[in-house]
Amino acid sequence: THVLPMAPPARLKYLSLGILVLQTTSLVLTMRYSRTLKEDGPRYLASSAVVSAEMLKIVACIFLVFRDNTFNFRALNYVLREEIVNKPTETLKLAIPSGIYTFQNNLLYVALTNLDAATYQVTYQLKILTTALFSVSMLGKRLGKYQWLSLLILMAGIALVQWPVEVPGTSEQTKPLASSQLVGVLAVLAACCSSGFAGVYFEKILKETPQSVWVRNIQLGLFGLIFGLMVVFVNDGETVRESSMFQGYNGLTWTVVLLQAFGGLVVAAVMKYADNILKGFAASFSIILSCVISYLWLDDFDPNSLFFLGTVLVIAATFLYGFEETANASGSPQGA
Ligand code: C5P
Repeated sequence: THVLPMAPPARLKYLSLGILVLQTTSLVLTMRYSRTLKEDGPRYLASSAVVSAEMLKIVACIFLVFRDNTFNFRALNYVLREEIVNKPTETLKLAIPSGIYTFQNNLLYVALTNLDAATYQVTYQLKILTTALFSVSMLGKRLGKYQWLSLLILMAGIALVQWPVEVPGTSEQTKPLASSQLVGVLAVLAACCSSGFAGVYFEKILKETPQSVWVRNIQLGLFGLIFGLMVVFVNDGETVRESSMFQGYNGLTWTVVLLQAFGGLVVAAVMKYADNILKGFAASFSIILSCVISYLWLDDFDPNSLFFLGTVLVIAATFLYGFEETANASGSPQGA
C-alpha cells in the first residue's frame, strides 16, 4: 500500500503548473517580439487582441462545459441557462474581476511594448506582494514572519532590477532611463495591483460557491468581452472606423492571442488545482527560462550584474514565501 499511484489532483496540480511555466514564457516572448518587430503595414491593435483572446476563451470554456456534460447538447444548454442566464446576481459578481482583468490585459501590452521581456517578468513578480496584501486584507489570511521577510527581499530584488545603470565609457545615449521605460514600469506596477486584487477576488468566488471553474470563466469572459470592446472603441475607435478591428493581424498576432486565451484557462486551472502562491513559483521558473532564451537567441536584453543579483533575490524570495506557505498549509513541512 505504500506505493500508491499519484492521485489525479496532485498530478493535475503539477501538470497545470508545468504548463503554466511554458505558457508564460512563450506568451511573454512572442508578445514582446510581436510588439517590436519592424513591419511594413500598421501594427495590430492591442485592445483588439485582448477582445479576440476573450472570445476564444469563451468558446474553449463552453467546449469544456460540454465535455463535462458528456457531450450532451441538452445538458450544456441547461447548464448555461440555469447557471448563467437565470442567475444574474451570481453572474454579475464576476463583473468586478473581469473589468480588472481586461484593464490588466491591456496594460500588459503597454508594458511589453516598452520593456524587454526579462525586465518585465521580474518586475511583474511584485504581484506576489500585492496578492499577499489583498489576501491579508480581504481573506483575513495571516502571514508568517519568513513570508513578510520574503516580501521585503522581493521588493529589494525588483528595485535592483530597475536600478538605472550608467555604462562607463559610453555616450549619454546608452540606456538613459527613457520615458518609454517609465511608461512600461508604471504599466507593470498597475498590472501588479490589479492581478493581486482580481486573483484574490476570483479565488474567493471559486472557493465560496459551487459553480465549476469553467462556468465561472464563461461569466468572466462575457464581461471581459464587453469591457474589452469598450476599450477598443474608446482607445482605437477612429482606427477601427477607418480600417478594421483586425488591421495588422498576422500569424504572429494569432499566436499571441491563442497563447493568451490558453493562459487564462491555465491560470484558472492552477487556481483550482494549486493556488495563487504556487502560481508565483511557476512565474519564477519562467523568468529563468525566458532570460536564458532572450539572452541566447533573441538579443533582446543585456543583463548587468545588478539585474542578475536582483533576479536571484526575486527567485529566492518566491521560494522562501512558498516554503512557509506549504509548511503552514499542511501543518508540518514534510507533510506537503
Ligand atoms: O498575471 P496573472 O496571474 O494575474 O494572470 C491573470 C491572467 O489570467 C489574466 O490575463 C486573466 O485574463 C486570466 N484569467 C482568466 N481566467 C481566470 C483567471 C485569470 O482568463 N479565471
